[in-house]
Amino acid sequence: MTDESKRRDDGNKAEAMPPVSPKPPTQRPELPDFWDLRFNTGVIPWNAGGVPAEVTSFARSFHRLRFPAQGDTDAAHPLRELRILIPGCGHAFEAACFAALGGQVTALDFSAAAIAKAREVLGNWPGELLHADFFAYEPPSPPDLIYERAFLCALPRKCWRDYAGKTAALLPAGALLAGFFLYGEEGKGPPFAAAPETVRDLLGPFFDCVEDRASLDPLPMFPGERWQIWRRKPASFPV
Ligand SMILES: C[S@@+](CC[C@H](N)C(=O)[O-])C[C@H]1O[C@@H](n2cnc3c(N)ncnc32)[C@H](O)[C@@H]1O
Repeated sequence: MTDESKRRDDGNKAEAMPPVSPKPPTQRPELPDFWDLRFNTGVIPWNAGGVPAEVTSFARSFHRLRFPAQGDTDAAHPLRELRILIPGCGHAFEAACFAALGGQVTALDFSAAAIAKAREVLGNWPGELLHADFFAYEPPSPPDLIYERAFLCALPRKCWRDYAGKTAALLPAGALLAGFFLYGEEGKGPPFAAAPETVRDLLGPFFDCVEDRASLDPLPMFPGERWQIWRRKPASFPV
């Protein structure tokens, strides 16, 4: 008889039962094992297979949004000298796009399997691809943009305050958090959709929402997806 079954056999069952065992790591989206399993088995319904339409047009206007006083920049390399961070990059198609337009891109993911896929997509590129946890990442210099796609909605809701705090801590005043945010009923996930008031409550203390429209071409799993741009407020708003 094992220790565990002995405990179960002892008189008062309510007291003797061992604590409910936590889910295995492959069922916990806050852990890399969850994502490794899905990348390794090809269960990747979030994969857009390329760069969403909004991203290239945004890239062309980004310099003007980030530094309104400076006017437009080099048309061939509109992202020149702008630092872009892509947390939870997955296949990282957008990283290649931003880098081709001159951006200094860091794409990171804590899943080794995701990083392997991204390496295949990116090949020999000029940016940085890191196997790292976003919440522990400290960049050498602050980004001008954090690009969001299917990252916040991949995180269990208990991690959302940390996401808001971390993005706010990384971005200087005027820098942007831009990309796709999943709205909808706050049911089971991932993907974990958010009610509009939840996102306003999370990001509102640190950011102003300067653009908000329905995604042009959402995947079937992201019906309530919206393209949004949030601008970091001046640093008087502490993190
Ligand atoms: C739903 S996938 C989206 C991937 C990619 N952004 C896309 O649009 O295809 C979520 C990704 O976030 C990564 N991820 C989740 N939590 C993370 C964390 N704390 N740090 C870094 N990456 C994380 C996962 O490994 C996974 O690749």
